[in-house]
Amino acid sequence: MADDYVLEMKDITKRFPGVVALHDINFKVKRGEIHCLIGENGAGKSTLMKVLSGVWKYGTYEGDIIYNGEIQQFKSIADSEEQGIAIIYQELALIPELSIYENIFFGHEIGKPYSIDWNETIVRASAALKKVRLSHIDPSTKVKTLGVGNQQLVEIAKALSKNVKVLILDEPTAALNEDDSANLLELIRQLKEQGVTCIMISHKLKELIAIDLNCWISPL
Ligand SMILES: Nc1ncnc2c1ncn2[C@@H]1O[C@H](COP(=O)(O)OP(=O)(O)O)[C@@H](O)[C@H]1O
Ligand SMILES: [Mg+2]
Repeated sequence: MADDYVLEMKDITKRFPGVVALHDINFKVKRGEIHCLIGENGAGKSTLMKVLSGVWKYGTYEGDIIYNGEIQQFKSIADSEEQGIAIIYQELALIPELSIYENIFFGHEIGKPYSIDWNETIVRASAALKKVRLSHIDPSTKVKTLGVGNQQLVEIAKALSKNVKVLILDEPTAALNEDDSANLLELIRQLKEQGVTCIMISHKLKELIAIDLNCWISPL
């Protein structure tokens, strides 16, 4: 595989009882691009991304995932995250009752076992919020008080705090208003400048065209 491809999914087939969700799908993503994935409802877009991120683990699909030049056998989301792949779902995965900083570092806490370094957590959460242009928001704010647009940005901040190289957004703007969508798309463009590869699922063609004229659209 040429060096400029960060990811190749080869001949991916995924079956569920009574349905073949993906049939011999080939999908290639260049390093540092914003790659848009479109297709009608039920086409298999989310399933393909779940295969990529280890939700559907190695052995439950056919075909190969080649990432950074190596065949990967992800057994969980934690495995793909370790390699720098993060997925953000349409249904947000934050814990509403917890603060922004607790959410950002939930599952990868800072400190020694049984003793979380809260000062450092808050410092790093502030830095992560800055990266998603939310520096005006106090990291101790409870997530449930944020609008859905800002919740999504907190999810992206969480991904960035794990050193994400490939960010997958599954229909991120479906629940957002126009301003929040525009803000998110601008952020994705900024992340691209910083070398983050982005796979973006959307069915809003206008938005996909606006995001980047060089965006590569691969219909399923
Ligand atoms: N967990 C599951 N169990 C059974 N069938 C599923 C499951 N997830 C997805 N499917 C089926 O796989 C197909 C592709 O779904 P999906 O990947 O969600 O499509 P898209 O994201 O493009 O709308 C659909 O027919 C859907 O019903
Ligand atoms: Mg979907």
